[in-house]
Amino acid sequence: MMVAGSPPTEHPLVALITGASSGFGLLTAVALAKQGYQVAATMRDPGKAGDLLELARKELVANAVIPLQLDVTDSESIHQAVEEIMARFGRIDLLVNNAGFAVGGYIEELSLEDWRQQMETNFFGVVAMTKAVLPQMRERGSGCIINVGSVSGRVGFPGYGPYAASKFAIEGYSESLRHEMSPYGVRVVLVEPGAFRTAIWHKGLARIVSHENSPYRERLEAVLRYSRLAGQKAPDPGQVAHLIARIAAKRSPRLRYPVGQGARAMLWGKERLPWKWLEWIVGRALK
Ligand SMILES: NC(=O)c1ccc[n+]([C@@H]2O[C@H](COP(=O)([O-])OP(=O)(O)OC[C@H]3O[C@@H](n4cnc5c(N)ncnc54)[C@H](OP(=O)(O)O)[C@@H]3O)[C@@H](O)[C@H]2O)c1
Repeated sequence: MMVAGSPPTEHPLVALITGASSGFGLLTAVALAKQGYQVAATMRDPGKAGDLLELARKELVANAVIPLQLDVTDSESIHQAVEEIMARFGRIDLLVNNAGFAVGGYIEELSLEDWRQQMETNFFGVVAMTKAVLPQMRERGSGCIINVGSVSGRVGFPGYGPYAASKFAIEGYSESLRHEMSPYGVRVVLVEPGAFRTAIWHKGLARIVSHENSPYRERLEAVLRYSRLAGQKAPDPGQVAHLIARIAAKRSPRLRYPVGQGARAMLWGKERLPWKWLEWIVGRALK
């Protein structure tokens, strides 16, 4: 099997995606299967694989999509899933670190436990997955790791402090990993989406508590309004899945791929405008 731009290989290329039960992960699993990959589509609860399998059948790639149980915060489940894929295919060519969620709320009002859970999944989950697949990539001298970051990994927004911290952490981590792995032929890439219409917004909203006597109530309500709108009106997440599939096929991808109009505008602003101007723009949006 051959993917455009990648070296010819007699083996099927094998991808492992985390968080494939919905959103970017689900769509990326199918996009990669259509590109010829055998896809280990991992999720916390394989009982949620229905939508993924339905789309895979519709796109005639059901045979190439294998749902597997994997919780990125559970090292035993990571070990078991990786062992199973290695026993079946003998290799993992592509790791897409996609699993994640967003803790919302104002920093003073969030518990340390909220912060720890956020970092446990969005950051330590990525580290644990990378460590689990890296040895065989390094030994083979090839592989690709795509980390799904966010525009929130470049710009911190009010009301999503833990999320921003977790995604900023992924940025620095990916830079280091890219330097470390380039001599071994392992490509490391960051995809940085702006807002897209996936379940993450509803799940995040369900966790945000706006206390009646909170000093932040009005501002938090504005964050909630923005999040609700993003959950309904943001662009189609298929764009991100197709981008990930395109990057996977590149011999020499860049480190960063911002995606979505909002992300590009925000990054342009952060690079060129004085911080005080950005502060004013964000402050106005929350009024
Ligand atoms: N949508 C956006 O606007 C946006 C923008 C920038 C970046 N992102 C990033 O894109 C990635 C995918 O999010 P999405 O928007 O596609 O949201 P989503 O539809 O909610 O998908 C998130 C996936 O991560 C899984 N997950 C959560 N915790 C997990 C854990 N401990 N172990 C394994 N899987 C876990 C979820 O599984 P369950 O079904 O079990 O909850 C789900 O499959 C995230 O990293 C997110 O931060 C999203």
